[in-house]
Amino acid sequence: MHAEPQERASQVDPSRMIDGAEGSTTVEEGEHVVIGRLIRRLKISDAPSRFQTLATNVLRASLGVEATAWVPASDYEEVIVSGEVLGVSASDYRLLAAPFARDAVQIVDDAQAGPAPAPESVRSFAVVAAGSAGALVVVNPQSGQAIGPLEVERAQYIASLIATQANNATIYAELKDLLFGIIRALTTAIDAKDPYTSGHSERVARIAVRLAQELGMPPQKRSDLYLAGLLHDIGKIGIDDEVLKKTGPLTPQEYHRIQEHVEIGVTILQDLKKLRHIMPGVRHHHESLDGSGYPDHLEGDEIPIEARILAVADSFDAMSSNRPYRRRLSPMQIDEILKKGRGVQWDPAVIDALFACRMDVEAIRQKGLGESLIGAVDVTLGRR
Ligand SMILES: [Fe+2]
Repeated sequence: MHAEPQERASQVDPSRMIDGAEGSTTVEEGEHVVIGRLIRRLKISDAPSRFQTLATNVLRASLGVEATAWVPASDYEEVIVSGEVLGVSASDYRLLAAPFARDAVQIVDDAQAGPAPAPESVRSFAVVAAGSAGALVVVNPQSGQAIGPLEVERAQYIASLIATQANNATIYAELKDLLFGIIRALTTAIDAKDPYTSGHSERVARIAVRLAQELGMPPQKRSDLYLAGLLHDIGKIGIDDEVLKKTGPLTPQEYHRIQEHVEIGVTILQDLKKLRHIMPGVRHHHESLDGSGYPDHLEGDEIPIEARILAVADSFDAMSSNRPYRRRLSPMQIDEILKKGRGVQWDPAVIDALFACRMDVEAIRQKGLGESLIGAVDVTLGRR
């Protein structure tokens, strides 16, 4: 006797089952409850197949049929099947839908006498089209009764939700491509402006992410920091070449002009609303813990944490690189400067984090390991 699995199954709270991996629900639930729950699960950033799996599971359970299938209009997209009808494969659902896919609704009460050859185990089915997106196929009511208008109406709702989510997913992918392209174009522009520091922004971004990880910051904050690192010096686009690339000592006016890159950076980015959250890092990455930095002479905790992390990553990479006016510093020289500036120029916790993962940071600097732009763009678009 092995009654335990069934007893366990009956202990599951049916009202919570839609949230599970299977997306199950109960036949007793009203239509508005079922639809409402599905709508709450509509996420623009989800893969369409994930929502389609959930929706076909919900529809099958709520109608009490043997199987439901989402057949996308494109042959390149996968047919999503919930339930099982003996001997019926995913491609069979495509064949069942094919003659009717452009009709709004088609009910075939006797599948074996239908216009297309149906597998023997299919008694009756309905095809509910969702515009140009595809069609839902509903197969074999378990009661043995015919598929009626109520079942069709519910399938129509769910088919339109699937079509809406697929549309949203396309728009999301386009938006993601666009933001990715904008950020890449901006970072390329910084590199083109000053080839000597080419790759600096990318390295600062990756080092900052590693420091944030060491400091226990959550993944979303690390992704934000990655973008802030990529764009922290975007304002240098607005600085004259003769000042930016000068190898000799700077006059006070020239030094002041270079300092303005943080404010120019904010001006460049301010119209990109989706990037507003990275502004504090761009504006304040040259602040110093003792208040001697710029542009606002912030002190200690007044400096946003992302700016305090970027300041360390920025300085570390700058000291580790050759510049027109000096050779790169040795690791010993860098350590000495970092220790001296701990608690004066830089946040002690961030300096400690750097020493705690010094080997990793060195590897990131040399090999470019770490966060990817595409992942960070995803997180950025997911923000409210
Ligand atoms: Fe800077």
